[in-house]
Amino acid sequence: MEIYYGADYYPEHWPEERWEEDARLMQEMGLNVVRMAEFSWTKMEPRMGEFHFEWLEQAINLLAEHGIKTVLGTPTATPPAWIVEQNPEIFPVDSHGIRRGFGGRHHDCQSNITYRAHIRRFVTAMAEYFKDNKHVIGWQIDNEFGNSHGDLCMCPSCTASFQAWLKQKYGDIDTLNREWGNCFWSQDYGKFEQIPSPKLTVTGQNPSAMLDWKRFCSDLIVEFQQFQIDIIRNICPDKFITHNFMGFADKVNYFDLAKNLDFISHDQYPGLFLAQPPKQPEDFLSASLDLMRGTKGKSFWIMEQQAGITGWEFMGRSPKPGQLSMWAMHSIAHGADAVVFFRWRTCTVGTEQYWHGILPHSGNPGRRYEELKSLIHKTQPLMKALQGSIPHSEVGIVFSYDQEYAFRIQPHHPDFDYVQHLMRYYNAFYQKNIPIDFLADTGDFSKYKLLIAPLQYLMNPELEVKYKEYVKNGGNLVLTMRTGVKNMNNVCMSDCELPGGLSELTGLEVLDYDCLRNTNILVDWDGQTFTAEKWSDIINVTTADVLARYESEYYASAPAVTVNTYGHGKAYYVASEPTDEMAAYFADVLHKGLNLLSFGETPSGVEITHRKQGNHTYIFVINHNDTEQTVSIPDDWKPVFDGQGDSLSPFGVDVYKV
Ligand code: GLA
Ligand code: ZN
Repeated sequence: MEIYYGADYYPEHWPEERWEEDARLMQEMGLNVVRMAEFSWTKMEPRMGEFHFEWLEQAINLLAEHGIKTVLGTPTATPPAWIVEQNPEIFPVDSHGIRRGFGGRHHDCQSNITYRAHIRRFVTAMAEYFKDNKHVIGWQIDNEFGNSHGDLCMCPSCTASFQAWLKQKYGDIDTLNREWGNCFWSQDYGKFEQIPSPKLTVTGQNPSAMLDWKRFCSDLIVEFQQFQIDIIRNICPDKFITHNFMGFADKVNYFDLAKNLDFISHDQYPGLFLAQPPKQPEDFLSASLDLMRGTKGKSFWIMEQQAGITGWEFMGRSPKPGQLSMWAMHSIAHGADAVVFFRWRTCTVGTEQYWHGILPHSGNPGRRYEELKSLIHKTQPLMKALQGSIPHSEVGIVFSYDQEYAFRIQPHHPDFDYVQHLMRYYNAFYQKNIPIDFLADTGDFSKYKLLIAPLQYLMNPELEVKYKEYVKNGGNLVLTMRTGVKNMNNVCMSDCELPGGLSELTGLEVLDYDCLRNTNILVDWDGQTFTAEKWSDIINVTTADVLARYESEYYASAPAVTVNTYGHGKAYYVASEPTDEMAAYFADVLHKGLNLLSFGETPSGVEITHRKQGNHTYIFVINHNDTEQTVSIPDDWKPVFDGQGDSLSPFGVDVYKV
């Protein structure tokens, strides 16, 4: 199966007479896969038990005549009106206790057993109908779990499921009361049935309860997905199953969600971020792709890659000539084996009339079609060579949904954000073209020369041992502010000074701290002054060496960055949130000290990344700028395409093989 490029296609939005022309244009463009049907429930089952899959089958077969395979989506993000009319309890309930209504999508409660019965009936029928169709190569379960589901769902069914989840975790109510610290504000429960989902309360709620709620919500989605995986695997064991993830979205723990999928897919819309830019959008976009690859530690698909202007009520900027191709290549450079563009043709109806596809409303191929067509024709042989390859990274960043949830519940500082904090470290290495992986704290640390584990706020003895072993065996670990503060139930530790069980490893104690409201702090590092933000841990070193010291506040001259030798390795501790400049300096120190693999210096907005396939390394030089840039290319990098050299065109992507 050689699938490299495709489109998200909605034949049901267009007259049947047009399908042939669509298929012809897709084929001409070099697409050989479509994803279809993920929102088409009413078209497939207009009334209970009355199935109409013929239209879809006809589209599948017609596309197949043009060499195009199909991935089918289960349409469970859009329960039809006839279902919710009969069973309005399927509508989700928000934190205000209000039941959301019909007219958008994702208006479903995932724990509702009536809805599950509808899903079982429908997905079984769909899988049975298409199981022998050889043009259907795989399935996507639902669509973007967590999208639009914000604080949903707090209905009676979800509340009961939460209670059952808690019972499973804590066993008896006294244990839960103790673990959550319910003696505070008389929150003790007499039985699990009294525990609410965290609807709007008069004041802030118990952080332990909130953390378990977030974990429960994630587990519910994982289980909801598994429910559908089981149905489909049973009927169509020979087809792959995937789901389209959303980068740093955090409603569901993506490491858990990835586990039973054949591979993960991701939806990449760089334009969306241009409207709400983090400081340097391309580092964030790269990090999203690296996190996606990290969820399974393998290559992935892009199931939706931006193909035009993004927009619902408002619109983003029009991608400039070359930018869509660059974005597609950017996804590939970070580990995508296939890129499916969203969407084939811009829709004339519905909420997404302005979320532009490859074709404009008119359906006539234009600028975007021609641009992507030439990209596809040029890169097909490369895509073949890249299948299954990933980068080889010496630097790993530990990403933890538990830590993220805990900081969402209590950010400490109003401007504090878990992902943005991790981005300070990511960015520092990214700017030096040092390859980076994200991994879970359950992952294999030993693969990495350098492991950066920011904000290890919730801690347990097993993880402490894992970090210690990693360093003892020669690893280099960076721990940061707010490490070891709480146990896994979000309760502050009190049996020793911070960072608790990691004090010996880091060679220090944190005896005091300061939340830097409306101020920053100056840090002296090798005679240079840097700024750090939001927080200061005030450290007393026991065995650690001091690398940098605070320059201001009542704790001026206290350590801001330290390093401790432990076994064969080193444990660093960063006591504040470094600004980009300070993080860059730290990355320099680590880069030189550890001799980390880097693809060298590049101008701002130009990144170099790679994928390793056996003995070959494919190197991508990516220009995110709309201006020409110069990068000096080593002699032993063999150009994959004609006309490559030191000068890189606006939005140009050059590829080399070593
Ligand atoms: C998401 C969804 C798509 C579509 C696009 C554009 O990525 O998966 O169905 O809604 O956004 O809004
Ligand atoms: Zn519910």
